[in-house]
Amino acid sequence: MSASPKETLPRAPGGAILLDGKAVAARVRAQVAERAAEFAARHGRAPGLAVVQVGEDPASSVYVRNKRKSSVEAGIVSFAHDLPASTPEPEILALVHALNHDERVDGILIQLPLPKGVNADRVMDAVDPAKDVDGFHPLNTGLLAQKRPRLRPCTPYGVIKLAEAYGLALTGLRATVVGASNIVGRPMALELLLARSTVTVCHTGTRDLRAEVERAEVLVAAVGKAGFIPGEWVRPGAAVFDVGINRTASGKLVGDVGFERAAERAAWITPVPGGLGPMTIAMLLSNTVDAASLRAGRRE
Ligand code: GUN
Repeated sequence: MSASPKETLPRAPGGAILLDGKAVAARVRAQVAERAAEFAARHGRAPGLAVVQVGEDPASSVYVRNKRKSSVEAGIVSFAHDLPASTPEPEILALVHALNHDERVDGILIQLPLPKGVNADRVMDAVDPAKDVDGFHPLNTGLLAQKRPRLRPCTPYGVIKLAEAYGLALTGLRATVVGASNIVGRPMALELLLARSTVTVCHTGTRDLRAEVERAEVLVAAVGKAGFIPGEWVRPGAAVFDVGINRTASGKLVGDVGFERAAERAAWITPVPGGLGPMTIAMLLSNTVDAASLRAGRRE
C-alpha cells in the first residue's frame, strides 16, 4: 500500500486502522439533509422515497425500518408500502407503476428478497430508472459499466466513499471482490474498475480462493457467510472492506472475514457492525436527493 496510515486514527486491537462507516455515514447524512432542505426550498416539496416491503422477512424488516427512519431524519418524505407475502405479482407491478407516476416520489426501493413465486427481475425492471435509487435497473448498471455512472448501487458506492473519506487511493491497486451477486459483487467490480483498480472477482467457480485473496491489496468480501474468509489469508498491509452482516448462533453480528486475525495483518479494515451497513443507508439517501435533482433538472 502506498498510503501511509495516520497515527491519530483509531485502530483495531490488531493494529489496522478502523474504517469507521458509522462516522463517515453521519457526515454524508448531514450533507444529504442540507441538500434535501435546499431542494425543498427551491421546489416547494421535500424529496420523497418509497420503500416497498413484500412479506415479513425479519432481517428485511430491520433494514426497512432503518431506511425509513433515516430518510425522515434527513428531511426526506418516506412513503411506506408493506404488502403481505401472498401479494400476486401483478399487484406488486401495479404499485410500482403507480409510484413511477407519483410526482411526490423521487426514489423507489423494493426490498429484496421478494417472496418465492414473484419474479424479482420483472419487478425491479419495472422501476423507472430515474427513480431507481438502488441502482439495480439494467440501465443504471449499464451506465456504470460504461463509466458514466448515474444512480449507483448503494453498498459498492459506500465502499468507494468510505475509501475516499480516509484518503485511500484505489488507483492501481490489485482489488479482489469475493462474491458476484447483482446487489454487491458485480457492481462493486464495476466501481473498482471506475476507480482504476485492477479487479478480480471470485465466486463459486473460483479454483483457488486463498491464492486470490492473498494477492489482494484491496479485499471486498460480499459472501454472506460468517468468517468465510480466514483472517490469515489477508495480505499484510491490505485494505479490507467487509460487506457481510451475519448473525452467529450466540446472536453476535460478524462479517465474512475473520476479524481479529485480519486486523493484525491489514492496514485498514471495516468493523462489523459499523462499517458498510451505515454507509449503505447513507448512500441510499444521497441517491434519493440525486434522483430528485436529476428529475427536477429534466423538467426545467
Ligand atoms: N436486500 C439486501 N440488500 C439490499 C439492498 O441494498 N437493496 C434492496 N432493495 N434490497 C436489499
